[in-house]
Amino acid sequence: RHLRGVLSLEDCERRARRRLPRFIHGYIAGGVETNASLQANQDDFKAVPLVPRILRDVSARSLKSQLFGRPVALPFGIAPMGFSALAAFDGDVALARGATAAGSFSICSAASLTPLERVAAQGGSTWFQAYVPGDKARITALLNRVAAAGFDHLVITGDVPVAGNRENNIRNGFDAPFSITPQLLWQGATHPRWTIGTLAREIATRGMPHFENMEGKRGPPLFSRHLTRSTVARDRLDWAHLAFIRDNWAGKLVLKGVLHPGDALSAQDHGCDGIIVSNHGGRQLDGALSALAALPAIRAAVPQMTVMIDGGIRRGTDVIKAIMLGADFVFVGRPFLFAAATDGEAGVLHAMRLLAAEIDRDMAMLGLSSPWQARPSAATDPVI
Ligand code: FNR
Repeated sequence: RHLRGVLSLEDCERRARRRLPRFIHGYIAGGVETNASLQANQDDFKAVPLVPRILRDVSARSLKSQLFGRPVALPFGIAPMGFSALAAFDGDVALARGATAAGSFSICSAASLTPLERVAAQGGSTWFQAYVPGDKARITALLNRVAAAGFDHLVITGDVPVAGNRENNIRNGFDAPFSITPQLLWQGATHPRWTIGTLAREIATRGMPHFENMEGKRGPPLFSRHLTRSTVARDRLDWAHLAFIRDNWAGKLVLKGVLHPGDALSAQDHGCDGIIVSNHGGRQLDGALSALAALPAIRAAVPQMTVMIDGGIRRGTDVIKAIMLGADFVFVGRPFLFAAATDGEAGVLHAMRLLAAEIDRDMAMLGLSSPWQARPSAATDPVI
């Protein structure tokens, strides 16, 4: 019922926008300052033309992918997003379950309001994204907890030394620590489906929201004075911390937020298994180049490495363009959170299927049997 008429990932946002209070919608949709990087993420995909090849037998198409030697049914997954449980009831589990049901996966966020153990056990998630504290004892506690929960892929987000300047959050009253303002109360009162169906249900089921996964332990509640805008910011973090993490993490290690080929090389030198080329969805440095614009030089710098990308991917053609320009796998953020806000796990699964169907249709029209055939190098399968 909630999904009737949701024909594309863009529709997920249109549908969720009506349901969500302005401060939640703005938190998800927004960027920073002038939104230049947010806009560039989408514009740069639009600017890449595709050249179809015709009269090729494309009757045996497949989206099957491989990441680090493990099969994935789709060439895309869900990027890590904090506060998901404020946008959708049990949002982190809904994202994880919807992705798993579609044969792919979501990355559990360090800034989630759901204990990572639940996201692993209930959602089947095996990828965890960490915001790493700058001291070794706390890093060790975090790594031990993440490994004990069963995660075997660790994503270190490197592009948040300080929080981005999210003016829209401040304007809308969505700022940590949360305080109850007349503006928030009004938004809650005028969006009863969210207030009752998401917020009240969340609090009734699991109590007041906390950051659950900071530094290997539970963090302060969202309404606490101790919660500052720098809760996730790590301005002390450097390559030596990454080397320490590599030495103490047995699973796959991925660095997220890479935009410079030199940083891609450093990640490789420090033993990372992969990188995610990303400008954080245009939510950190305004003016940072788009992930797509950064991709070709990075691919050239680390030809053997697993290179993934996120930012602005909304259509099947975008997924194919990212792969064509060198990505081994792509992640999509906002649309899936909007899908979860619209209809929970079913919404996420619906959105995963929409994007998969688009890729399949586009491949046929491009004369491709697999998305990896879009690579000029003509590699027919992922090389990873
Ligand atoms: C994010 N992103 C993010 N990244 C990260 O490493 N840790 C996090 O906790 C979050 N939190 C978060 C919340 C929300 C609401 C959004 C929209 C984004 C960034 C995210 O992982 C990803 O890089 C971008 O969202 C990708 O861009 P698109 O697909 O949203 O355009």
